[in-house]
Amino acid sequence: MRIYLSRPDITEKEIQRVTQVLRGPDLSLGPVVPEFERAFAEYIGRRRAVAVNSGTSGLFLSLLALGIGPGDEVITTPFTFIASTTCIMMTGAKPVFVDIDPASLNIDPQRIEAAITGRTKAILPVEVFGNPAGFDQVCEIARRHGLPVVEDSCEALGSALNGKKAGAFGTLSTFGFYPNKQITTGEGGMILTDDDNLADICVSLRNQGRGKGGVWLAHERLGYNFRLSDINCALGVVQLSRIEEIKAKRRQVATWYQEILAGEDRLVVPMEPAGGELSWFVFVVRLNERFGQDQRDAILQEMDRQGIQVSNYFPPVHLQPFIVEKYGHRQGDFPFAEFVSQRTIALPFHNHLTEQDVALVCGTLRAVLDICLR
Ligand SMILES: Cc1ncc(COP(=O)(O)O)c(C=O)c1O
Repeated sequence: MRIYLSRPDITEKEIQRVTQVLRGPDLSLGPVVPEFERAFAEYIGRRRAVAVNSGTSGLFLSLLALGIGPGDEVITTPFTFIASTTCIMMTGAKPVFVDIDPASLNIDPQRIEAAITGRTKAILPVEVFGNPAGFDQVCEIARRHGLPVVEDSCEALGSALNGKKAGAFGTLSTFGFYPNKQITTGEGGMILTDDDNLADICVSLRNQGRGKGGVWLAHERLGYNFRLSDINCALGVVQLSRIEEIKAKRRQVATWYQEILAGEDRLVVPMEPAGGELSWFVFVVRLNERFGQDQRDAILQEMDRQGIQVSNYFPPVHLQPFIVEKYGHRQGDFPFAEFVSQRTIALPFHNHLTEQDVALVCGTLRAVLDICLR
């Protein structure tokens, strides 16, 4: 038996809507792309949404639309998925890391100002594991310094902070729809903004640099093919219409974990942040500070051996070998990010898990902790 880390939640409704597109004439550049964009913009509460083929493409185009390139610096977090950093490198700009707040696991707003230089052109914060904590403060600092915010909301669809949705904070914001996300389009992403000019540039950049009229062989700028097809968007339209149901199912799974792991003092168990509504993306527990990376790695290996898929979300970005080689970072540069990274265990988390599954994962984890933390 194997319990998977993540699984998509696809119903007959999605299958029917995708099939409808497949039976029609428009597999791409058809009417379902703007339908998905309109529904998405309305859900987040923004003027414009631009569908793209991945979250990574969305972040990259957001930075390009702001004119960021070689010689520029973008402030970001070292505790995230690699794409939050590589999107900056793709433009030729330099990622400048700022350590995290160990409570929220997001970039620490208190440390941002010390990292701002004459070359800083944007701040790229990430709602890590879906948590929007601190985003109001990050935006306030950016406003004071006249810097745009490129919000990486790839993990945060449906989260909110003091009533404001994730994706509503940045000058531009990006979501991702890989199948482990709250909603999926297979692959895909969405850029959001209230600025028509930035949105129009993103529309052109995703479509080979074509102009507003979309004349097929007239190109105004260096562009890309980062389009999302109508097939993907059909999946997205139905998934988005089910977001509240999906969020509720995930919250139920998180609650089972919290109840069953209550009192387990070898672990730090994630809870909803104060003032925030968390749309659960993953369920990542952490070893207590008494334990270290070797023990964590042994636990991951043993869980996997026992048929339960787990992961080490996230190794610190600044210590990935190609980043070390390019920017010369060292162990100890961002101690909070490193401390957290050494101790995380992402447990199976998706909508198909039953209470019995969660009990089995927790029972296995407790037995594995007994062995590995002796
Ligand atoms: C924080 C974060 N940023 C960016 C991405 C990139 O999204 P994608 O895989 O759709 O390119 C992801 C997810 O994969 C993510 O978790």
